[in-house]
Amino acid sequence: MRASSLAFRAAVLLVLVGMGWGIFMAASQDHATAPAHAHLNLLGWVSLFLFGIFYRLHPALETSRTAAVQLWVWILGTVGLTVAVGLIHTGRTAGEPVAAVSSLVLFADMLLFAVLVFRNGRAAPATSAVPAE
Ligand code: HEM
Repeated sequence: MRASSLAFRAAVLLVLVGMGWGIFMAASQDHATAPAHAHLNLLGWVSLFLFGIFYRLHPALETSRTAAVQLWVWILGTVGLTVAVGLIHTGRTAGEPVAAVSSLVLFADMLLFAVLVFRNGRAAPATSAVPAE
């Protein structure tokens, strides 16, 4: 699967969970886990979708193993941090070491993405659907 397709598919799956979570919070009038919901949506929807756009703009990375690793680590780190933040905000200290590890994993993964951005700065030339005159 191309990197951008993986990113887009994972992003929509995660935001469906995040939105369902938001609806449940609103309906139950219990907003205790709002920070976890926010992390899931911002890391899992916004960031992943932005990664997908970057990979779509850089076709050379679409089949790159490094890009695939970067995305899978991000997906797993997002799930880990979301669960951990949810545990912490419902009074379960067991979430603290999970939050510590997953936040460092996500930070390292963003460094990896930064390397890909700096090494692949130039996007593929835009193609136009309008025939040249
Ligand atoms: C069906 C869609 C959604 C529903 C029903 C929903 C619902 C909620 C609710 C009930 C809260 C708690 C508000 C409070 O306690 O003040 C909240 C907080 C929040 N949501 Fe959502 N949400 C939705 C989608 C999203 C999306 C897509 C994002 C981000 C892209 C997002 C980001 C946030 C953020 C940043 C907070 C603040 C968290 C905090 O204060 O710790 N939400 N949402």
